[in-house]
Amino acid sequence: MKVLFIGDIVGSIGRDALESYLPRLKKKYMPDAVIANGENAAAGRGITKAIYQDLLFMGVDMVTMGNHTWDQKEIFDFIDEVDYLIRPANFSPEAPGRGMATLTKNGKTLSVINLHGRVFLPPHDDPFQKADELLAEAKAVSPLVFVDFHAEATSEKIAMGWHLDGRASVVVGTHTHVQTADSRILPGGTAYISDVGMTGPYDEVLGMSKDSVLYRFKTNMPTRFEVPKRGRSVVSGFFTEIDDETGKALSCERIYINDDYPFRG
Ligand SMILES: [Fe+2]
Repeated sequence: MKVLFIGDIVGSIGRDALESYLPRLKKKYMPDAVIANGENAAAGRGITKAIYQDLLFMGVDMVTMGNHTWDQKEIFDFIDEVDYLIRPANFSPEAPGRGMATLTKNGKTLSVINLHGRVFLPPHDDPFQKADELLAEAKAVSPLVFVDFHAEATSEKIAMGWHLDGRASVVVGTHTHVQTADSRILPGGTAYISDVGMTGPYDEVLGMSKDSVLYRFKTNMPTRFEVPKRGRSVVSGFFTEIDDETGKALSCERIYINDDYPFRG
């Protein structure tokens, strides 16, 4: 199974960039399934139902989330009604929604798991233990398992890669918005990258207006970070081909598209 993952979509620049590049990426990689992290899709903060539907319309098959899951209050009204939106599985058992979902495309079934880190982020339940629980469930359905670990610290993400090596097909890190150059297939057969990076504004600070971020750094005064609506974009992704029988990754490739690294078809 070929799986294309799109890193954190930030605001309208990110959504527009995805709309522009996804058809080209699909033509180049011929993915069976497209997964995207959408936790920053609504102006950097959460996701709305309309944006979720837009992403599906563009050709995304599953949307994962993260620390901004609850930023748009309307998510409480629709998260339990939609089939292709998951939030971190190690949120409180009281949280609505779910942390794992399956996707069947071209006769192949993939389980997608979303987890949340605990280093420099709120203290959610243990993501390592939750991963074990969900893997057991997922493996009963199919050997193909994709994990989006939304976390800040590279150490925690690398540790999760090793924790799941040979058990998950793919482990990608998200959240930092900066793509790491450490993509590889771990010895047990798990495709891994510490952070896929973001799909959003290219000339700002992690997608937020650089003026507001600079003001905060220089003055330590409160300021609201905004996601610009105009400007150049970056598209970040991760492509993996997985062996349908064994669930092991056969190949993986980082995708990074912007004016400095133009798309090559
Ligand atoms: Fe995040």
